[in-house]
Amino acid sequence: MIRYMGRSAKILGTSKYIPEKIMTNKDFEKIVETNDQWIIERTGICKRHFALDDEKCSDLAYRAAVLALEDSGLTADQIDMILVGTNSPDTVFPSVSCKVQGMLKAVNSGAIDIQAGCTGSLTALSVAASGISSGIWNNVLVIGAEVFRDIIDWTDRGTCILFGDGAGACVVGVSDSDGGFASTRLLADGTGHEMIRLESDEEHVTPVVRMKGNEVFKFVNTVMPKFIKGFCKDSGVAPEEIDFWIFHQANTRIIDGVFKRLNVSQEKTLTNLSEYGNTSAASLMITLHEAMESEKIKSGDKVCFVAFGAGMTLGALLYQA
Ligand code: UT7
Repeated sequence: MIRYMGRSAKILGTSKYIPEKIMTNKDFEKIVETNDQWIIERTGICKRHFALDDEKCSDLAYRAAVLALEDSGLTADQIDMILVGTNSPDTVFPSVSCKVQGMLKAVNSGAIDIQAGCTGSLTALSVAASGISSGIWNNVLVIGAEVFRDIIDWTDRGTCILFGDGAGACVVGVSDSDGGFASTRLLADGTGHEMIRLESDEEHVTPVVRMKGNEVFKFVNTVMPKFIKGFCKDSGVAPEEIDFWIFHQANTRIIDGVFKRLNVSQEKTLTNLSEYGNTSAASLMITLHEAMESEKIKSGDKVCFVAFGAGMTLGALLYQA
């Protein structure tokens, strides 16, 4: 059973916080053997943003949280739970979510970080909807935030050009109206844990991202279309009936390939890789905010969220706006 059976949970507000510092493909030409054309053709990325030296993951998460609360019309003391999807917390503990809870003075809230690779904020959204549907929470603040600056190997051209920093957030609350989160599926395939990992070696005492990019690319193109088709079938909806897709932003070629296999039009999604690169767990939340802000999602629309990432992890969520 993948359907939410209880109360309706709806998105009440969204936000993004993008740090000011920008690195273009041309900037990378100066530090590794690469070129603008290769990066654009293979990934769709033109630039990415990075946190300033004194900005940590919790700072980006907090800024996005304040904006999402403002958009929702709720105050911090009305939040029951803060869930943060991140792979680049300030420290392993205390959690980013606890720091944000403290900064917001969300005095009635618990706080949990969710580490599920780039699927982190989709997982958080799925858990938020479960908590609201079952009745244990009324309002949940979901944040995706990353500062990859410190975990990138700036000499590895296969990974350093891909990632960027940023944060996005949304407030999910109980709703009397129709729609809301309808179903969700979270899957893992830990046999693929070596494909994307954080690792230290003789040169890097502080662990850095290591990725078998090509293997990830093949894995996603093989596994995701089947996963999405199965999810849609079990949710009682055909892929062509989905009005809008919020897809994890890893590579425009991955999004194009999966959509082609699903026979879904590109017009039913939004890509922002050219502006932000891959912001890992933040990407889904940033994309959600941009889709809401540009009114690409209309009341009554069926929206499907899809993400994949290190682990390997896969996730999907169906939502009616
Ligand atoms: O969100 C987390 C999940 N991560 C992903 O989804 C990433 C999935 N993977 C990818 O997006 C792609 O595999 C990459 C963009 C990382 C790489 O693209 P690719 O088309 O798979 O390239 P490749 O790894 O097969 O490399 C092709 C060539 C190699 O050269 P040779 O061996 O053919 O001479 C690489 O060394 O491209 C070379 N290369 C580069 N050339 C210029 C690798 N990185 C670069 C670079 N600039 N930055």
